[in-house]
Amino acid sequence: MNIDKTVKYLKEKMTNRPKIAIILGSGLGGLVDKIKERIEIPYREIPDFIVSTVKGHKGTWIFGKLNNVDVIVLNGRFHYYEGYSMKEVTLPIQILKELGIEKIILSNAAGGMNPTFKIGDIMIINDHINFFGNNPLLGPNEDNEGPRFPDMSEAYSKKLIKIALETGKKINIHLQQGVYMGVTGPCFETPAEYRMFHYMGADAVGMSTVPETIAAKHRGMEVFALSVITDLGIIGKVEKASHEEVLKEAAAAGPKMVQLVYEMMPQL
Ligand code: HPA
Repeated sequence: MNIDKTVKYLKEKMTNRPKIAIILGSGLGGLVDKIKERIEIPYREIPDFIVSTVKGHKGTWIFGKLNNVDVIVLNGRFHYYEGYSMKEVTLPIQILKELGIEKIILSNAAGGMNPTFKIGDIMIINDHINFFGNNPLLGPNEDNEGPRFPDMSEAYSKKLIKIALETGKKINIHLQQGVYMGVTGPCFETPAEYRMFHYMGADAVGMSTVPETIAAKHRGMEVFALSVITDLGIIGKVEKASHEEVLKEAAAAGPKMVQLVYEMMPQL
């Protein structure tokens, strides 16, 4: 996608040189309040950016400082289930790379399938399974952006995971670790699907993150990702899931996630 106008516009608004960007998932917008020297731009004002067709969809592009570190925060993401193409879903990653971003932090709400998980837990994503049946890199490869066949042996940076684990210990935030299964949604899973995904090796399931991680790795960026466990799909104990519940639990666990990311910033 042509991003020349978008990048030019955003560069003109940029007052600093961020190397880190954070994409916030559902219910995790609380981080925004912690950003200092904040410049907030509604997505609809950004030229050639995605115009949301979804009712009530809000989104802002934010420049600022988090714990004294220059940062870009995207409050609101585009999901595949909304009808966007994989290229549209990963457009923010393409733009962030052009703006000089080297590290991406992704957050999401996810259903927990690992029997040791509880609602409100935070899981560091240490690997993923792409179950979208699609891939943002399908089609002609832009060789100047990245390789035709990108390596995915370390999709989630071990170095950043280590920093997160050490930080969690220091500030007394318990962290789970596991594999994230990325699915299209928008249905939550049937008990049989949760069971299958767990047998396939996943600890949590959600409807985002995987396309962005693939696009970021393709462009040589480091990725760190966190899931807030908002509902459980544990074998024999599948509970009813709803969007309201997901938003409520994400908001409840949000401050823990925000504190972790805040404390990690100067170490990244
Ligand atoms: N399944 C898929 N996506 C989700 C879930 C879930 O249980 N919870 C939050 N996002």
